[in-house]
Amino acid sequence: MSGYILEMRNIRKEFPGVVALDAIRFAVKPGEIHALLGENGAGKSTLIKILAGIYRPDAGEILIEDAPARINAVADARAAGIGVIHQELSLARNMTVAENIFLGRIPANRLGLADENALWRRAKEVLDSIGLSRLDPDTRVSRLSVAQQQLVEICRALSEKTKILIMDEPTASLATAEVETLHNIMRSLKRQGVTIIYISHKLAEIFAVCDRITVLRDGRYVGDSDVAAITHNALINMMVGRDIDHIFPPHANRPGEVVFAAKGIKSARVRDVGFDVRRGEVVGFYGLMGSGRSEVMRALLGLDRGVKESVTLMGKPLAIRRPQDAIAAGVVLAPEDRKLEGLILKQTLEFNITLPIIRRLISFLALNRKLHDEIVAGIGARLRIKAAAYDQRALNLSGGNQQKVVLAKWLVTEPKILILDEPTRGIDVGAKREIYRLIYEIADSGVGVVLISSEMPEVVNLCDRVYVLHEGRLTGVVERKDLTEQTIMRYAIGGVNP
Ligand SMILES: Nc1ncnc2c1ncn2[C@@H]1O[C@H](COP(=O)(O)OP(=O)(O)OP(=O)(O)O)[C@@H](O)[C@H]1O
Ligand SMILES: [Mg+2]
Repeated sequence: MSGYILEMRNIRKEFPGVVALDAIRFAVKPGEIHALLGENGAGKSTLIKILAGIYRPDAGEILIEDAPARINAVADARAAGIGVIHQELSLARNMTVAENIFLGRIPANRLGLADENALWRRAKEVLDSIGLSRLDPDTRVSRLSVAQQQLVEICRALSEKTKILIMDEPTASLATAEVETLHNIMRSLKRQGVTIIYISHKLAEIFAVCDRITVLRDGRYVGDSDVAAITHNALINMMVGRDIDHIFPPHANRPGEVVFAAKGIKSARVRDVGFDVRRGEVVGFYGLMGSGRSEVMRALLGLDRGVKESVTLMGKPLAIRRPQDAIAAGVVLAPEDRKLEGLILKQTLEFNITLPIIRRLISFLALNRKLHDEIVAGIGARLRIKAAAYDQRALNLSGGNQQKVVLAKWLVTEPKILILDEPTRGIDVGAKREIYRLIYEIADSGVGVVLISSEMPEVVNLCDRVYVLHEGRLTGVVERKDLTEQTIMRYAIGGVNP
């Protein structure tokens, strides 16, 4: 008896141009919550996909409860009791929440037809079990926010008879309260004897909920440890191979005059919100899941139906009917959902990065290849995008690296107002720090930056001013000198009653 429920030995996986995994060792004890950690592109998702039967390893063996396991297809993984929540959302957008939870396993009645009542009831049970009682199982998934969709994915995995539950960044798009709920669910599953493999870039979560860790770096096994036996800094060091002392680089912003102001933004989920941005200022937007942060920007830019009383840029009125009007004026949004809005996955990384500025790179019908390559290489290095080559398809990048490409694409447009919606979601610590530095650099160059974030430390440490939303309404504006997590949270849960 090895004492492990799952053991992976000497796993190797190559893709054209990259060795994604090399001689990986990964051993998990029954009933523990085991974190799998490493920088973007380290190989975490690839290892998980091997366990899920999506990829076959080029070498190595897998043991489940000490017996060699052959996982050649997704069905083999399921039969072995392995349930996976993948990093990329994979719901059928035009089906309901209930249908998605039981996709492929929809209960049938005696006539062999889908038993709608049983389906609804069983979906409701799963939703209730994770505290999502407000969500109607009959809601169409396309109407849910990214965060809600993530929770439905979790319900789907929970509804299967799962011995080993693998979660690849399940909390990347959840706000504080939902993360807490999920952790409680994980703890309760653990008490029921379920083993959990957990991937997250949020280190605080690792210390809050995990028992053991395994770290990968550049496709290699670095080490494993009990969480109780390791410090925060030692863990970062294992992941990036060097010390990082200040995640938030010390810096003083120097906001100038107001360059952008929007008043009376209204839409289906936004009630009369206004805000302004100064030159060189970093303005935060904070709110819990469903508070309408992204929706404010979507209504402003004409991505959702809505109205605005007025918008001014550099003192002049700006009419934004469609997103293109905003982009042309230098008001740019880097969106949160990279798959739907941010990236053309079938295209190359360089195509995606230069898409918004491609006209500028073409003169006399020919692409200025030198300038093009310089821009791509420059931003690629600044954001530390890890890829085999810049002409690799975006589809094959790791999740965090896709997120960096979305950012890169909007940074190269040299905007006047840059709105970043969750720019560090799914990004590793080293790269996060780079992005923070970059936000300061952009602000220093005179750009007004709007930062939408559900990471409290980010908002508190980076912003000059923070707008706080609750259920589509502005409940507070917190100035730099008053910025604490407590103040923000008080407004985020509905504001202070006089
Ligand atoms: N289908 C694929 N084709 C080609 N290369 C791939 C493919 N899948 C992954 N890779 C490469 O393998 C390496 C490991 O990627 P993987 O997705 O496992 O990283 P990760 O640790 O999950 O990173 P992240 O934290 O960004 O999600 C990366 O260099 C990635 O570009
Ligand atoms: Mg990944």
